[in-house]
Amino acid sequence: MTKRKILITSALPYANGPTHLGHMLEYIQTDIWSRFQKLRGHETYYVCADDAHGTPIMLNAQKQGISPEEMVKNVSIERQRDFADFNIEFDNYHSTHSEENRDLSALIYKRLDEKGHIKKRTISQLFDPEKSIFLPDRFVTGTCPTCDAPDQNGDSCDACGATYSPTELKNPRSVMSGATPVLKDSEHFFFDLPAFESMLKEWLHSGSLQAEMANKLEEWFADGLQQWDISRDAPYFGFEIPGAPGKYFYVWLDAPIGYMASFKNLCDKKGMDFDAFWGEDSQAELYHFIGKDIIYFHSLFWPAMLDGANFRKPTNVFAHGFVTVNGAKMSKSKGTFIKARTYLEHLDPEFLRYYFAAKLNGGITDLDLNLEDFAQRVNSDLVGKVVNIASRCAGFISKKFDGKMSDTVLEPELIAQFQTAADSIALHYEQREYSRAIREIMALADKANQFIDAQAPWVLIKDEQTQAQAHDVCSAGLNMFKILMTYLKPVLPGMAANVEQFLNTELTWESAQTVLKGHAINKFKALMQRVDMDKVNLMLEESKESLEASNKPALDPNSPLAKEPIGEEIEFNDFAKVDLRVAKIAKAEHVEGAEKLLKLTLDLGGETRQVFAGIKSAYAPEDIEGKLTVMVANLKPRKMRFGMSEGMVLAAGPGGKEIYILNPDEGSEPGMRVM
Ligand code: 2FM
Ligand code: ZN
Repeated sequence: MTKRKILITSALPYANGPTHLGHMLEYIQTDIWSRFQKLRGHETYYVCADDAHGTPIMLNAQKQGISPEEMVKNVSIERQRDFADFNIEFDNYHSTHSEENRDLSALIYKRLDEKGHIKKRTISQLFDPEKSIFLPDRFVTGTCPTCDAPDQNGDSCDACGATYSPTELKNPRSVMSGATPVLKDSEHFFFDLPAFESMLKEWLHSGSLQAEMANKLEEWFADGLQQWDISRDAPYFGFEIPGAPGKYFYVWLDAPIGYMASFKNLCDKKGMDFDAFWGEDSQAELYHFIGKDIIYFHSLFWPAMLDGANFRKPTNVFAHGFVTVNGAKMSKSKGTFIKARTYLEHLDPEFLRYYFAAKLNGGITDLDLNLEDFAQRVNSDLVGKVVNIASRCAGFISKKFDGKMSDTVLEPELIAQFQTAADSIALHYEQREYSRAIREIMALADKANQFIDAQAPWVLIKDEQTQAQAHDVCSAGLNMFKILMTYLKPVLPGMAANVEQFLNTELTWESAQTVLKGHAINKFKALMQRVDMDKVNLMLEESKESLEASNKPALDPNSPLAKEPIGEEIEFNDFAKVDLRVAKIAKAEHVEGAEKLLKLTLDLGGETRQVFAGIKSAYAPEDIEGKLTVMVANLKPRKMRFGMSEGMVLAAGPGGKEIYILNPDEGSEPGMRVM
């Protein structure tokens, strides 16, 4: 096998806020791939860094009353501890706020500029006159120009989904000061992306980009590439653009250069050759693992910047999907927005590594962390199948055979099956189809267990005549276990290290082909505990608490919001499914035997509905007959004790006498849609 030179990166995390399990998917996915390549004997480096620059980081530091440098340093310490505790093994972890990155950013910019790829023009942007700062889109709020929903973001409306420029917002306000922003001119620097179109098209077809990514690129080409604004005005936390005082590189310009900078830093420490990996005719392979949200930066800007500055381009960019928990977007109120640290306080990092691996494939679909399934999967696969092989065999060898495996190889064909699986398992890993690799490994684990069950060494050991057979069976079992643990080593490095200690041998991809005979092993210690659902639940509970302690502004205790906090965020599409209509209360009646309910006959202008509403404590039937109200018209009919209820009317208030049915204005008519 030829030895490859491979450089691998994960996206550089913003030095802003704690690591959570959504982040961990990427680092675990990349780490498994990097460990796999190393296990196969390739010259592999996995580097990363903090993404330190940008307005949010600058403002966050200001809020904490410290310098951005100090904040970045604090976050980095925590972050690196989280990574280390999840067994993420970087060859280097650096920062984009480093001398290497400053130099490389300046160099790349200079080369692009010399070739005419940097254009300058004056643009007009919203400016906060109180804070004297240009406002990034996210720092402007106002009324949606399309649907008039108030308090919308500067770039898109959560209510109707429209996207727009912040200058189009009605009644715009600065999030930072509340002031009304003014338009102000400033000269900006643009990277001429359209000049790279044909090169990018070639790059798209030359490699083996993921199908989803290739499709996206085709779409972007069809829409037409745009020049990219790479400058920001002071105040900004970043690198000043050489020769342009008061102008800074936009964070996304120097972020990917941070990959190079981290590697440069490693080269300087180890005396390695930087150009062998980044030079224009480098023969090394370069891979970026990223989330699906940042494909644009990595598949257009980044290769174009590298090409324009005479560096090599990535061999491939691997995007993954997002993590959902129990089938939904991670949610702070449900406790499913789980920080890496909270997880680590309750559960073994290798559980998560295994679960992610068991579900990961080479595409960009989202991955659901279903916590019941997580516990069940880890317990049945790792504890019930893999560890079980060793725990059933190890004791006899230690106690009865002096810790020495037998010289006889039992079931050579079965062991050979385990060994020949190496190629297809390796291919699955290589293609990032980890779930397939795991499936194949677990099928082998089943075979090993069936073999042990059939031989029943615990019976054989009892009879002097068959003790030697028990020795052979347990030795064969341990050989199978050793092969399985070799294949699992990229996923479970912690457990593999303990197994190496126990089996008294190093697990390498090659060594799976060697059967241990007459080999001395060490005492077996428990390799993995079962996942305890109580701990999982505790982790969720604690994740909820960490939200309550967050720094949301305190609410007036008399505010209805304090009594009934706003619920779970929902997607616009979910909201859009609710069909709200104006309804006329044609009839209201008491219901025999019902304490709280009135039976309403609602006229929808062409259709009548019967609805039972819990408003009796606040209204007598005659109070509301003839009034207009609002109803959910497409609620599935529900069978209640007193009959079918075919919808729901909307009312507000804490209850008792204080319930107010909603009254649309005069002029609206039964059946009209409520928007
Ligand atoms: O999206 C993010 O979290 C960015 N900090 C990723 C940067 S990746 C690379 F380009 F630096
Ligand atoms: Zn809108």
